[in-house]
Amino acid sequence: MMKYLMANWKANYDLSLFLELVQSIPEGSNFVSIFPPFLALWPVAKNLPFGVNLGAQDVSIYQSGAHTGETSAEMLSAMGVHQVLLGHSERRSQGDDLRCLEQKLAQMTAHRLSPVLCIGANQKTVDDALIAALMSQLPAGLERFHDFKIAYEPIFAIGTGEVADIDHIANVLKKLDLALSTRYPYSEIALLYGGSVKASNVRDILAIGYCSGVLVGNASIELKSWKELVEICRTFS
Ligand code: 13P
Repeated sequence: MMKYLMANWKANYDLSLFLELVQSIPEGSNFVSIFPPFLALWPVAKNLPFGVNLGAQDVSIYQSGAHTGETSAEMLSAMGVHQVLLGHSERRSQGDDLRCLEQKLAQMTAHRLSPVLCIGANQKTVDDALIAALMSQLPAGLERFHDFKIAYEPIFAIGTGEVADIDHIANVLKKLDLALSTRYPYSEIALLYGGSVKASNVRDILAIGYCSGVLVGNASIELKSWKELVEICRTFS
């Protein structure tokens, strides 16, 4: 079964490295999505191998007009973007609350952009309270999407090198799968894991039945580890 490999380049910028990363992906790798910073969307779009998906790390709540500094869903769509990351803990901590995410989703609906909605907490114990906390991070409007992706990113694992235990990930994804299919009975939902994913641990994570892919930060902007990740994920497609 195909497993998604999503690269979140965050606020890093090295154009020559970006082009090397993109050009290292084999043509037809439709399991790969790249989320460059806005400034790199255009050069990345021009060099993207056939089949690879282009994503954005954010989208404006506004449609267009007098909103200095904003990047609208329409602009992203014109650039060839198909997916947008929403609700990353790094954005929630900057003020992206449920209302804001709902407004962003509304803009995305109008331009057929597909959400990759991140949820996460700082708890290592898996219990009902954790699942309730994660489910409470889902904005209204998601139900309008026929298919979307949810990335579970435990905060203690983001950028720390400390990947969550396989049992923890498997347990959370299984419980989320049940809770999500109850809340969104008409949507097709893919569950991803993110947080210190690298070539040495990705196989075990992707072997989890409920895990449809990974969202990768640091290891996606280092050429050697990126190439390894692509190769490993390719074996699942
Ligand atoms: P790292 O892979 O650097 O831990 O980042 C994970 C992440 O935040 C992806 O969105």
